[in-house]
Amino acid sequence: MKLLVLGSGGREHALVWKLAQSRQVTQLWVAPGNAGTALERLAGSGAAVENVPIGADQFDALIAFAKQHRPDLVVVGPDNPLALGVVDRFQAEGFLIWGPNQRAAQFEASKAFSQEFMIRHGIPTARSGTFTDPAEAKRYCATLGGRCAVKADGLALGKGVLLATSIADAERAVDEILVDKSFGQAGSSVVIQELMEGMEISLHALCDGRTAKLFPTSQDHKRSHDGDIGLNTGGMGTYSPAPFLSDSELEQVGEQILRPWLAGCVADGIDFRGLLYPGVMLTASGPKVIEFNARFGDPETQVYLPRLENDLVDLLIASATGTLDRITLRWSSQACVCVVAASGGYPGPITKDKVIEGLDAAAALPDVKVFHAGTAMKNGKIVTSGGRVLGITAWAPTLAQARDRAYAALGKIHFEGMHYRTDIGAKALAR
Ligand code: AMP
Ligand code: GLY
Repeated sequence: MKLLVLGSGGREHALVWKLAQSRQVTQLWVAPGNAGTALERLAGSGAAVENVPIGADQFDALIAFAKQHRPDLVVVGPDNPLALGVVDRFQAEGFLIWGPNQRAAQFEASKAFSQEFMIRHGIPTARSGTFTDPAEAKRYCATLGGRCAVKADGLALGKGVLLATSIADAERAVDEILVDKSFGQAGSSVVIQELMEGMEISLHALCDGRTAKLFPTSQDHKRSHDGDIGLNTGGMGTYSPAPFLSDSELEQVGEQILRPWLAGCVADGIDFRGLLYPGVMLTASGPKVIEFNARFGDPETQVYLPRLENDLVDLLIASATGTLDRITLRWSSQACVCVVAASGGYPGPITKDKVIEGLDAAAALPDVKVFHAGTAMKNGKIVTSGGRVLGITAWAPTLAQARDRAYAALGKIHFEGMHYRTDIGAKALAR
């Protein structure tokens, strides 16, 4: 089976690594991939994974490549091509592609769409309103005492969410999005949610339009610095499982969210075939959805896939073809931890082209996998090329052991300006 994976981040390296383990796969291309994806080999034939220099948003070039090479399955990693309708484009050309179509991808591409859907279908979420008029938006913030999350409606590289705890803060946030247009078109309307308090966890469910299969829990660390301070980032590290829900509580939370969500999709004629990733706050009055994403989390994928015992090719085909009801997900009982090593300056402006040392020494450790994100090959050396550079991932029978292993591997790696959080998993271990 020939596969084409779209994307270039840590999530995509993890997907490629796991897909390459399937003996069904005879050829695997990644567009555009990174230095890490190009080092992977297929378990079946030993053949190398091939990077293809086409961006995940360059649909014409991707379709031309696909027509020439005829992949049996196309796998979409990132949100942007989904929001732009990559699935619809490939389907129109007769290809099997995994991911939600453009309409279904609105769960991530439009927070206003998601919020309205959740309210209409009884999915537990924050009190909220959607506004295009700044004065009306500010009046709503005032009804919440200024304690609110002010969100640009559309995709804004994970940066379109401003948290406010006073009316002055909230009004500034509304102006930033609706008046100053700091997030461009993504901010033509704002969603304002009450500020929720509690433990935040990531849920993932693989869906085929009628069936949703819930993953174990995980937790991301979104702020740039230890102790959850500093700016919001794409995610500085993850671990799975997160011990804040027992298995039966997880099942209940999954039911409370996924059952009305699936019923709502059926009622509204939305055919969601892909990965639904609800960010969830465990509040004193029960679990509430913060937002929906319509793709695998990054770096959640890096801690889920080492624990997944199924052949990922089977799962993605079942999701794309509507046969997930025949599949049982199987997970190892090991704990898994991923620590992100980021470039100096991230999440602000970064410096690139720093040579990364120690990758081989880290890879030589048992039960460790270094997933690449912002890396490139230059003059025979692996160098930094993005904000989040590596996801150093390890697994072990306990969370503490997995964390120690991940940090031991990280200790072997160096590049100029490298920074990372030292407290990935700490909230779980403190319990
Ligand atoms: P989002 O992109 O919507 O997930 O928001 C980014 C981050 O902001 C989330 O991961 C939360 O940590 C925080 N956040 C968003 N909405 C709320 C809310 N209503 N209450 C509290 N925190 C929030
Ligand atoms: N882990 C955060 C995200 O994927 O959006």
